[in-house]
Amino acid sequence: MPKTGSTAPPAAAPKKNTASPARSARPKPAPASNRNSAKPAAAAPSRNSAKPSAATPSGSALEIKDTRTSKTYSIPVAEGAIRANDLKKIKTDNPDAFLEVAWLLRHGELPTQQEYDQFVHDITFHTYVHENMRKFLEGFRYDAHPMAILNSSIAGLASFYPSARNIFDETERNISIIRLLAKTPTIAAFSYRHVKGLPFVYPDNRLSYVENFLSMVARMSESKYEANPVFARALEILFILHADHEQNCSTSAVRGVGSSHVDPFSAVSAGVAALFGPLHGGANEQVLRMIKEIGTVKNVPKFIESVKSGEGGRLMGFGHRVYKSYDPRAKIVKKLADEVFNVVGVDKDLEIALELERIALADDYFVSRKLYPNVDFYTGLIYRSMAFPMDFFTVLFAIGRMPGWLAQWEEMLLDKEQKISRPRQIYIGAGERAYRSRLTEKASL
Ligand code: ACO
Repeated sequence: MPKTGSTAPPAAAPKKNTASPARSARPKPAPASNRNSAKPAAAAPSRNSAKPSAATPSGSALEIKDTRTSKTYSIPVAEGAIRANDLKKIKTDNPDAFLEVAWLLRHGELPTQQEYDQFVHDITFHTYVHENMRKFLEGFRYDAHPMAILNSSIAGLASFYPSARNIFDETERNISIIRLLAKTPTIAAFSYRHVKGLPFVYPDNRLSYVENFLSMVARMSESKYEANPVFARALEILFILHADHEQNCSTSAVRGVGSSHVDPFSAVSAGVAALFGPLHGGANEQVLRMIKEIGTVKNVPKFIESVKSGEGGRLMGFGHRVYKSYDPRAKIVKKLADEVFNVVGVDKDLEIALELERIALADDYFVSRKLYPNVDFYTGLIYRSMAFPMDFFTVLFAIGRMPGWLAQWEEMLLDKEQKISRPRQIYIGAGERAYRSRLTEKASL
């Protein structure tokens, strides 16, 4: 098995100016023009502040670049002053938009302010895990795959909340859904820290959902954790893009297992298990491994030929059971990748990915089979740029997919037409035979 990046210390910048999720706020992300310099870039604005991070006079206007959103604003200067009102247009989106989407998936409508505030409050209130869960996590081997840890820990939550088995009690369903949304990032982050041999960082309930997750992953000795705004926004968008996707393998697993009326923790852990597979959520990890194996841009044509001949395996991150054209999510992810690479710089792995895409999109083998990049083609590169180790990529996918699994689980439960999942099969094996034991037969040598 190729070595993963999981041995690198979280604070270490893996390449160029790449900051780890932990250290993302210090040094601040460098502007594109300065990306290979070791010098910290201009200080990032504080969260939700309208203060410009760096301003340069340009004629009769100030140009302000908001490093949280990568947007540039032109603020008019009149008589040597700017109007405070002009600064008000410098805004970020809702830092917890992922939770708005989570609500939407479950309820079919976006939340009102009151519903949203209560939802965010409830999730924030339930981010801590029982101390015994923490001990349970400590029992995993140092080199355990974080998806194996996440899968079994989520299943293990069922033992902490036995009343969750009352799945037709709305109050129980609500609290289970809140717990799963709230505790999954905590368990995921603890799995990261465990593998790294770092002390667990407890949730910081002052932070947004994504920032809190980044804090639990990467915080070291900072008195106040500040996530890199570009990374936090990228992760928020990736979580939203992964939040639900009709009857994919993991969602079908959640519905299939849930149809037996087991508790939601057990049902969702089946989804995590399905996501672990390299043909599903594990594909983003495999894309990176494939790129590592290719090694350099000049090896790309040879690799493509080996895929076409069937000797080199599949082109990971290409093809989709449903999308027989460009995966619409892949378009957004590619744009997002550009924003993140503007901060950390382009490296040879990205160049290999771009070359793979360029050649495959022009090659009849892929075109005739309608094989286009899927969402996983670029997500791995983005996660890697944020210094997440490869085997953690699918865990990030699982956090994003959690609202979709839960909404689908509840929809299935409340659908009166749904019965226990029991696919029929057509038996094509041997016909009826008389019983004749073979236990005493001698093995032929
Ligand atoms: N590279 C090379 N050839 C491929 C690929 C690929 N990535 N995907 C499919 N093919 C070929 C198959 O060999 C087959 O060729 P043939 O007709 O000559 O036998 C043809 O395309 C059709 O393949 P199927 O396996 O029938 O396609 P299916 O729709 O069942 O598979 C899947 C979809 C599993 C995603 C597949 O495209 C694949 O393995 N891709 C790589 C893994 C990957 O990126 N998975 C992530 C999916 S997105 C997600 O889960 C979030």
